[in-house]
Amino acid sequence: MRLKFQWVLLVSLAVLSAGADDKDAADVLTNEAPSAERKFLILTVATEETSGYKRYQRSVKINGLPVKVLGLGEEWKGGDMANSVGGGQKVLMLRKELELHKDDPEKIIMFTDAYDVLFNANEEKILEQFHQFNARVVFSAEGFCWPDPNLASKYPEVERGKRFLNSGLFMGYAPELYKILNDGEIANDDDDQLYYTKIFLDEKKREKLNIKLDHRSEIFQNLNGAISDVELRFIGTESHLENTVYNTVPLVIHANGPTKLFLNTLGNYIPKSWNAEEGCLNCWEDMNSLEKKKPKDFPKVVIGIFIENPTPFFEEFLHKFLALSYPKDKINLYIHNGASYHAKQIAGFVESHGKEYASVKLINHDENVKEWHARNLGIEECLKKKCEYYFNVDSLAQIDNPHTLKLLIEQNRPVVAPMMIRPYQAWSNFWGSLTTDGFYARSIDYMEIVQGQRRGLWNVPFVTSIYLVRGDIIHNPKTKPSYIYNLLDADMAFCTNMRNNDVYLYVTNRLDWGHLVTVDNFETHHFNNELYEIQNNRWDWEKRYLHVNYSQNLDTNLNVTMPCPDVFWFPMVTERFCDELVGEMENFGQWSDGTNTDPRLEGGYENVPTRDIHMRQVGMDHQWLAFLRDYVRPLQERVFLGYQHYPPRSTMNFVVRYRPDEQPFLKPHHDSSTYTINLALNRPKIDYEGGGCRFLRYNCSVQDTRKGWMLMHPGRLTHYHEGLYVTKGTRYIMISFVDP
Ligand SMILES: *[C@@H]1O[C@H](CO)[C@@H](O)[C@H](O)[C@H]1NC(C)=O
Ligand SMILES: *[C@@H]1O[C@H](CO)[C@@H](O)[C@H](O)[C@H]1NC(C)=O
Ligand SMILES: *[C@@H]1O[C@H](CO)[C@@H](O)[C@H](O)[C@H]1NC(C)=O
Repeated sequence: MRLKFQWVLLVSLAVLSAGADDKDAADVLTNEAPSAERKFLILTVATEETSGYKRYQRSVKINGLPVKVLGLGEEWKGGDMANSVGGGQKVLMLRKELELHKDDPEKIIMFTDAYDVLFNANEEKILEQFHQFNARVVFSAEGFCWPDPNLASKYPEVERGKRFLNSGLFMGYAPELYKILNDGEIANDDDDQLYYTKIFLDEKKREKLNIKLDHRSEIFQNLNGAISDVELRFIGTESHLENTVYNTVPLVIHANGPTKLFLNTLGNYIPKSWNAEEGCLNCWEDMNSLEKKKPKDFPKVVIGIFIENPTPFFEEFLHKFLALSYPKDKINLYIHNGASYHAKQIAGFVESHGKEYASVKLINHDENVKEWHARNLGIEECLKKKCEYYFNVDSLAQIDNPHTLKLLIEQNRPVVAPMMIRPYQAWSNFWGSLTTDGFYARSIDYMEIVQGQRRGLWNVPFVTSIYLVRGDIIHNPKTKPSYIYNLLDADMAFCTNMRNNDVYLYVTNRLDWGHLVTVDNFETHHFNNELYEIQNNRWDWEKRYLHVNYSQNLDTNLNVTMPCPDVFWFPMVTERFCDELVGEMENFGQWSDGTNTDPRLEGGYENVPTRDIHMRQVGMDHQWLAFLRDYVRPLQERVFLGYQHYPPRSTMNFVVRYRPDEQPFLKPHHDSSTYTINLALNRPKIDYEGGGCRFLRYNCSVQDTRKGWMLMHPGRLTHYHEGLYVTKGTRYIMISFVDP
């Protein structure tokens, strides 16, 4: 159906554009043929089909506009417009094109740049606004007199609005435009804006040709110097740009000067890309569905895994990576392990699972390949394997959604990153905007995107940590990614190169994909390092160490278990937590001798000595206080109503070891605490026999303690208690005297 339509279109074009040669006809790339009868035509010049060009075409199509593109495939000789003057070539192309229309006094022609322009209105609206001007030609206006500031004083004064001409956008009747375009000589690399400016500043010509400027953005909005003049507005399913200074709604938007990134942001909403009611509309465009494909026909992907730093919860990372729902025989792995810390884990992974993948290439830390080169080699691996996609995954990106890879492929963008954040923080793997020197800046919508209030697909200037690059970008020598750019970090270099090649980078938060772990301040000198990550990586820490039923403790619909009067019992931590904490202590090994002399205490004297190791001795004091504050305190506030102390204080935090041949029991005593917690770290009747805690006043014992469960009881007055005799094995408990 679609093919047929295009065929008909081409035929009709060939007929209609009699007089023009075939090539011109083929250049018309829009859905509506600019017909001879149609009195409106838009002309633009583009030599390459960049991301910006495709965005322009999308806005043309959505608004049903008649556009003819000049210059596609031709060599650009108009100079480096981004960094200096130029653009004369555009004038020459237009001049030639206007030959076709110069004798039609009713024909209205608009000229726009292509790579940095968006339409947000249809023909009717545009013409309606144009007619309001009572002009034959209208140029857009801006606040800078460029490229020759000395001409500023020659401009007519304006009471309200921007004073100076910008040639990126203009429109007018064909005969007048033809005269303007043939007014004088111009070379390919002369400045086109200067050319038009000189005509406009000639009062006689200006009046004769009836040329006006759109001072108040009634049709055209140039963004340079005007970003704070405009605001995105959402009304139902409409998203539009409002110029709040002049109270107008510009219809054609041009990112002149250094405002490209802002237009990229606007392009995320207009035209019809995203609105408050329907959400993301562009998410569903240009999809590459795998639904009907058999797994054996899935695209071939090279996945580059980069471990550049010791990374907490890497074990979980690997589990989730293995769980990706994508045929492994379609995946070639490329692993750069820059951290000796993980060498064993990686070797184990490759040994156990390497064969499931199409291939595995591993570059180990001892090969001393620097990150920049390692990442470039990943791209080379992709070329070598004739990959269809390249998926960059850094070890800090935990893929919680196993469908991530498949869904990113279906999204079909040049570069697309699944948005990930550090849980509970506004830190993410993308930047919404950049400062002029290329560093992080917040975009108008950054927080809404990060917090998931706006879900969709966003064109952004910087992505990192995890992203998919489409094969055509890699196989095209002009856009092939490189991680080297001056002395920039690898990820910044990659994005800079992409931006310079006009390849758009997208981030998607359409769904939840996963999260980032924090690698900063990861201490790797402990026996079980992740135990210490309770504050740095709280989300992952909870997943690994907090009891799955912990939150039930806070559910006031449920009763808290009370094995003895005012002794409360809570599921707190996982078995793994218990094992790792015991492991940490045994690895440290310096158990106290159980005598009254204790040099670790301020007075040097312990009234009720045990065989124990203090948290401070294994460097976990701070983490433990966080545990008391975040997980213990809320329970205390629930069961001992009215007592509040924030944050809880505790200097006595320690693991006790009871053994028949060492210290098997503890005589009756009061704790010097407001309340005490007692966390069972192993299992009665299995790991040891006997043991438990007896509260003498109530003649009540808790002997069936549960590993990972915590007892909480008042300290220094009512709950006189003793540690019961351990007859066999070793019993471990964790004790804190809270608020002494
Ligand atoms: C968590 O609680 C549910 C009942 O609410 C129970 O079935 C489950 O076994 C508990 N999980 C653990 C690990 O104790
Ligand atoms: C909680 O305890 C109260 C009072 O003893 C009792 O009436 C109620 O049924 C208990 N609720 C549950 C869920 O066990
Ligand atoms: C304490 O409890 C135990 C068993 O529950 C019982 O045998 C003993 O007689 C009690 N002692 C006193 C003093 O009540």
